[in-house]
Amino acid sequence: AAVGCASTRRPLAWRSAGLHGAATASHPQMVAAEPVRSGAAPLPTPPSDPAASRLISATPEWAALMAHKRDVIDVSHLRDLLLDESRTMALYAEHDGVSLDYARQRVTKDTMHLLFDLARAANLQGKMAAMARGDHINVTEDRSVLHMALRAAKGDALVVDGVDVNAEVWDVLDRIRAFTERVRSGEHRGATGKIIKNVIAVGIGGSYLGPDFVHEALKTERDAAQAAAGRTLRFLSNVDPVDVLRNTRDLDPEETVVVVISKTFTTRETKVNAKTLRDWLHDAMGKSPDVVAQHMVACSTNMEGTSDFGISPENVFPFWDWVGGRFSVCSSVGALPIALQYGFDSFERFLEGARSMDEHWQTAPMERNLPVLMGLIGVWNMSFLGYSTRALHPYTEALLKFPAHVQQVDMESNGKHVTLDGDLVDYPVGEVDFGEPGTNGQHSFFQLLHMGQTVPCDFIGFMESQNPICEEGEPVSNHDELVANFFAQPDALANGKTAEECRAEGRSEELIPHVTFLGNRPSVSLLLPLCNAYTCGQLLALYEHRTAVEGFVWNINSFDQWGVELGKVLAIKVRQQINQTRYHNRPIKESFNASTARLLDRFL
Ligand code: F6P
Repeated sequence: AAVGCASTRRPLAWRSAGLHGAATASHPQMVAAEPVRSGAAPLPTPPSDPAASRLISATPEWAALMAHKRDVIDVSHLRDLLLDESRTMALYAEHDGVSLDYARQRVTKDTMHLLFDLARAANLQGKMAAMARGDHINVTEDRSVLHMALRAAKGDALVVDGVDVNAEVWDVLDRIRAFTERVRSGEHRGATGKIIKNVIAVGIGGSYLGPDFVHEALKTERDAAQAAAGRTLRFLSNVDPVDVLRNTRDLDPEETVVVVISKTFTTRETKVNAKTLRDWLHDAMGKSPDVVAQHMVACSTNMEGTSDFGISPENVFPFWDWVGGRFSVCSSVGALPIALQYGFDSFERFLEGARSMDEHWQTAPMERNLPVLMGLIGVWNMSFLGYSTRALHPYTEALLKFPAHVQQVDMESNGKHVTLDGDLVDYPVGEVDFGEPGTNGQHSFFQLLHMGQTVPCDFIGFMESQNPICEEGEPVSNHDELVANFFAQPDALANGKTAEECRAEGRSEELIPHVTFLGNRPSVSLLLPLCNAYTCGQLLALYEHRTAVEGFVWNINSFDQWGVELGKVLAIKVRQQINQTRYHNRPIKESFNASTARLLDRFL
């Protein structure tokens, strides 16, 4: 009830051309999209006075998609849709080596046209342009959203709020190149004169997941692996002391640099871990100021915080409040650990890949625009077909951390319940994302994907392996074996297997219901040449922009994250209580409910 007061919220809203009418006095209840199993399921209740609603769901374009779903999609099966060759050939797009096949979505060519109409009604392209210009589209924090500027080419003109953003970005990148080269060449040594071989990056959320995904992706890539020979990069994210042990037990502090990564430099987990590692360094080398100077550096927007911690400004690699934490991997957040481990050139190739996708997103027509297509498909599956969960399956072990990164990018961005105007949304937004590399996922949760709930899937495959193995005498290589699954699973999900097909295989009648696959389960397939720094940059930007497209159409703010605050505040109260009871023998205060008080009492 506290949200969505139209009159007080309106000044915050980021106005978009032609979408909204007058303010509503009350807000419709949130309703789930209609169930997907029955073609005759009821449509979500429209606002009582559509003309007065400011919601995208009140537009004729939304209504047209609802009618199309009921009349066409609910009565079609992917098995039949895939037989229409002209449809299947049309549902494909590519950019700079990245192929997107979306023929296995529950869409026709008409669905896509209607989705493009919806995008126009939502002023999608106007919003994308506003983001690129540096308008303050993150209205609740009054900030620009400029992560694309982090990978713009040197010299690209971008002045925002009177500041030459490109010059600032490249100033920091040049400093990172110089520093990482000094460390890698042995010019910058530890306090006791030893060469630095190890890096522990301390950070959490966006200050960890993106760099970790890139690190894992490059570990086995030939050129990157060569550049990293004899070096170790680890990430300490969890405040759990067990994570400290796992990261430090076999490293020599005298050969280790600690990179403290925190946009705000106020995050408790990171501050606790940074202090623990400072003690670890001091225990090994004494408390001389040289220890922190030679072994600790930081990436942050908070220069005061880093200096209070004891890190001098020349060892801080800044970024800016217009970089959201989950969109920060292209800033010093990713640049420093990745360039320390793999050299700056690798990181630059990563930026180039992201830049290629940025330019494509900003300029390609919607019909051929990969992030727009994937974003609109997301809106369709979530808000119209009611599929609230989505799975990501990279068919390479090198991308094992990519699903976790996409999970934060998407769920922290689009896990919202009000529009930019503060109105409660009356349509489902924000998917639950999860995933695992193939083929491991197939032997874990694919049973549910084939026979349980319908979960739209993204399959990511590569033409070449980072590690091609061809056994003599084997008909297919190990990589072919992997890729065979990448091709087979989407068809199995889409086509399923009919009772007749099962009977033809000689299955007994009792078994038929158990071995029949209903199919009609949507997926997209992305095919790329090779998993390397460049293609990782492309994938990163593709998924960042998919999230933005969905948020723009839903008219929510994908760039704030107020939802993580409440738990943090409550943890402070618990932390104080633990201290008071444990060290001052004070009773557990009445301000905790009986449930929390009981377990807290037991813990203490
Ligand atoms: O969990 C919330 C969050 O603010 C994320 O958005 C962010 O990526 C993470 O915490 C870490 O924040 P910081 O970089 O400020 O330490």
